[in-house]
Amino acid sequence: MSFVSMPRPRRLRRTESLRRMVRETRLSPDDFIYPLFAVPGEGVKNEVVSMPGVYQMSVDQIARECEEVRALGIPAVILFGIPEHKDATGSGAWDDNGVVQQAVRAIKKTVPELTVITDVCLCEYTDHGHCGVIRDTRGEQQVDNDPTVQLLVKEAVSHARAGADIVAPSDMMDGRVAAIREGLDKGGFEQTPILSYSTKFASAYYGPFRDAADSTPQFGDRRSYQMDPANAREAVRETLIDLEEGADMVMVKPALAYLDILRAVREVCDVPLAAYNVSGEYAMVKAAARAGWIDGDRVMLETLLAMRRAGADLILTYHAKEAARLLA
Ligand code: PBG
Ligand code: ZN
Repeated sequence: MSFVSMPRPRRLRRTESLRRMVRETRLSPDDFIYPLFAVPGEGVKNEVVSMPGVYQMSVDQIARECEEVRALGIPAVILFGIPEHKDATGSGAWDDNGVVQQAVRAIKKTVPELTVITDVCLCEYTDHGHCGVIRDTRGEQQVDNDPTVQLLVKEAVSHARAGADIVAPSDMMDGRVAAIREGLDKGGFEQTPILSYSTKFASAYYGPFRDAADSTPQFGDRRSYQMDPANAREAVRETLIDLEEGADMVMVKPALAYLDILRAVREVCDVPLAAYNVSGEYAMVKAAARAGWIDGDRVMLETLLAMRRAGADLILTYHAKEAARLLA
């Protein structure tokens, strides 16, 4: 019996040099978008308990942090804001002097070449913690789609006015991408792209983020607007709708438990595709690494690589800085 004609894939795994030559997917700091949580005040830097290494920061601290982010070769950050006061409509969201707007201006002044993305949603700004305004219909409280979209437009335009390079609606209302596009164009921001959170699932993986953003819904849950984790065909449909409405980039969120969705979305569109490596995914790696149960660095890089392999061009990740350091 001869093995001469048998395929022998191991031939190409013998040395590190060979392995590098045949590597199909690469990770680079260029792929990362680093999330930041802006809070009012000065000199504030509070670690989020469920997310070691992640902080709520005041605007001055955020500007300093962004210099470090840039120095690590990470091209972009995404900003979330926790306002001083919350109310029923989330009016802090479109305040031109709001915490995100201030942070955008400070970053663009300190590190102008860094791309600043803003998360456009109301849940951090509403006192009830939902992503839109509530309507009470015969005792049933629902997030009211169209009035919410109008407020999201105001928020997005306010972010663009502050100098945001990209706006990223994460609310999952119907029709918001088209409305935001129209609002931006009318406001003279036809060059501002929209990164749509096009497929966002109602996920338990967002738990630690809600600590960081103080945005846990005070009643009910988000299942009437975020997607059912069971649905893949619907994820494709949501993506196609947002593209039709004018999204410049799309997203799958969460990422780790939704790699099949990333692949499916990749196959139907050619715009830049982002994966959100969410707070719960980050917390699990940190907790297991702290306990000494896994090699945190290796698991982190393997996980980020998997997201790229599944089809993501970009990854929003709390690991961005540590991963960039390891890849340097
Ligand atoms: C809010 C928003 C959420 C995240 C980003 N934007 C959470 C939510 O829907 O409660 C989650 C990010 C994360 O978990 O890291 N629209
Ligand atoms: Zn929200």
